[in-house]
Amino acid sequence: MTSESPPSPSIDEMRSAVEAELKNALALFDQEHCNEIIEMISYHLGWEHSGMKEEGKRIRPLLVLLCCSACDSDWHIALPAAAAVELIHNFSLVHDDIEDKSATRRGRPALWTRWGIAQAINTGDLIFILSRLMTSRLLEHGLQARLVLDLQYMLDEACLQLAVGQYLDLAFENRHSVSESDYVTMIAGKTSSLLAASCAAGARVANATEETISHLRIFGYHLGLAFQIRDDILGIWGSIEETGKPVGDDLLAHKKTLPIIFGIEHSSEFRQLWLSASADHPKINKMIRALNQSGAQDYSQKLTDKHTRIALDALRRANPKPASHALLEELVLRLLHRHS
Ligand code: IPE
Ligand code: IPE
Ligand code: MG
Ligand code: MG
Repeated sequence: MTSESPPSPSIDEMRSAVEAELKNALALFDQEHCNEIIEMISYHLGWEHSGMKEEGKRIRPLLVLLCCSACDSDWHIALPAAAAVELIHNFSLVHDDIEDKSATRRGRPALWTRWGIAQAINTGDLIFILSRLMTSRLLEHGLQARLVLDLQYMLDEACLQLAVGQYLDLAFENRHSVSESDYVTMIAGKTSSLLAASCAAGARVANATEETISHLRIFGYHLGLAFQIRDDILGIWGSIEETGKPVGDDLLAHKKTLPIIFGIEHSSEFRQLWLSASADHPKINKMIRALNQSGAQDYSQKLTDKHTRIALDALRRANPKPASHALLEELVLRLLHRHS
């Protein structure tokens, strides 16, 4: 390695650097008056207990740093952007658990169940604002103001799409007929937009060409679709020990996830059970049995695999540096065959 080559990428080093950067973000609060705010955010980010599962997978910041390094830059300069995307993700999760009435997140009580809905809404807002302040910090890493402004715009646009996706997710609960194409529009907003922006942001910080940024954005977009479909499979066939979330919630909440849409269209037994769904467990077991017979899991997994192939193809087109390319491929395969 010459003295000018960027440092080689390492997932462990990136993960620790992201945690340190997130802790830096909390230093923006005045300790005297904001003790409880710091406690709530630290709780949500998983720092109260020690363990990766409590913290979450930190996929989005890893994508920022790996894509930056894939474009032959020192990933350290992208750390504030990495923290910013993880903060956006976490603000959306705090609000999502209220919206979905989910009492459990990452195997622990969701923030709102400990501090109440009002303080959880406010904490989500605070985490969102912290993310914007972190983006401004890129200026301290010597990045041009124009580039920082572009990045801020990119992330704001992703937040807009994410919130529209969340709107659709909730609106679909009350709609009987939701097509697979409606579903893809919804998950493209709520999940893919931020993964796509994370990949594009890493490349943008590295000063990559528009063409490379566009390939990496497409990579993140399809990875996001595959990732959300996998999440929806785990919402029905995962286990609470692995996912940290109770199975069956999506069925009872009338969520229009892909396996559920498939079941409604292809199994009259499932459709009948689902239409009369209530919080009773024997019915959940029956619904899952009917879904099993309908082939919904296989169908959903095939779509995950299809979007994974498109994502990996777009990644190759970006011509990434080999070491980062290998780590990105490994991350993708680990995510899409995950059980949690
Ligand atoms: C959960 O995202 C919400 C979805 C978009 C599926 P992650 O699975 O990335 O959540 P954590 O941060 O690792 O817990
Ligand atoms: C994931 O929402 C997307 C966002 C939070 C923006 P879901 O409601 O599908 O994810 P989980 O299952 O609660 O993690
Ligand atoms: Mg939701
Ligand atoms: Mg949810």
